[in-house]
Amino acid sequence: MTCCTIILNYDEATAPEREAGLEKAAAIIRRGGLVAFPTETVYGLGADALNPEAVGQIFTVKGRPADNPLIVHVADLDQAAALTTGWDDRAERLAAAFWPGPLTLVLPRADGFPDITTAGLSTVGLRLPGHPVARALISQAERPIAAPSANLSGGPSPTRAEHVIADLNDKVPMIITAGDCRVGIESTVLDLTLETPEILRPGFVTAGAIFEKTGIRVTMDPALNTARQNYAESGWKPKAPGMKYRHYAPKAEVIVLRGPAERIGPEMKRLCQIETAAGKQVVEWRLNELSPEKAAFELFDRLRRADLEGADIILAGTVSQTDGDLSFAVMNRLLKSAGYHVIDL
Ligand code: TXA
Ligand code: MG
Repeated sequence: MTCCTIILNYDEATAPEREAGLEKAAAIIRRGGLVAFPTETVYGLGADALNPEAVGQIFTVKGRPADNPLIVHVADLDQAAALTTGWDDRAERLAAAFWPGPLTLVLPRADGFPDITTAGLSTVGLRLPGHPVARALISQAERPIAAPSANLSGGPSPTRAEHVIADLNDKVPMIITAGDCRVGIESTVLDLTLETPEILRPGFVTAGAIFEKTGIRVTMDPALNTARQNYAESGWKPKAPGMKYRHYAPKAEVIVLRGPAERIGPEMKRLCQIETAAGKQVVEWRLNELSPEKAAFELFDRLRRADLEGADIILAGTVSQTDGDLSFAVMNRLLKSAGYHVIDL
């Protein structure tokens, strides 16, 4: 693999360093290399979306299953429209309301798209990210950029500079860091190929916000409400291929305590005493005391930190969530990290 990754700390760089760094990154993308870069959701690992060899390297570096399609990041609406045969009024309204931002639109892919980018699907997920560094990189590369989250497959998505460096240093030619990602969980993935659009992966842009801003009603992929950990045996089949993998799994065992706050506290204390007495190192998370925004912002960092601190068990207290709001998106990630181990109180 690549040795000696160039790391550009964008926040601390001078204006000329930023300019030279972005130029370098764009050149790496143009000649088929990989660059990790910040977005407003999580860090991404980018390659030229139209270059099959470049995209192939993303799968290799991450250890990503070949059946999991990549989101293609664009610099503007024209570039998005050129990558699909289905840019319609709904797409236009959604883009006007939420782009640049944490919403991915799944649409029929244009002819000539490399199969590897979309994992052979006839659709492509398009997103115009809100982070200025991401936007500058895509514009300067003059290519659409395929980018999954910049973690090794199976681990939590990186939301801080140190996460992306821990996972990818010396594995890619260049990493651009710019502090913490504002949102903290990945974009909402919305399938627009259906008559009623469907949320395949919940995120910061909620069904309620979509309706409020565009008048478009969307439903949730029913698989999102099925707490199954064994995809193969259950026949549970989410429409976004990536949603079927056990993601975000820390080394520690995660147990979700779900219910009213007045029950979570005592039960957490009880379980903590039992496990501590058994010699386990226990971490207690009172996510129920945080706003959904703050829980989203902190979740992946908490998972990584628990591992670094050598935790054996994470007890995660959480309020029961309602369909369609941000707490549902946070809960989706938490349940995956817990392998659906939930105690309902
Ligand atoms: O916020 C994000 O979306 C971040 C940043 C870097 O943009 N990216 C990200 O990519 O989370 P990734 O590859 O980790 O997750 C992409 C998800 C997967 O669950 C994948 O299966 C789904 O989107 N997806 C991508 N293209 C799709 C398509 N054409 N149809 C259905 N699902 C798709
Ligand atoms: Mg990912």
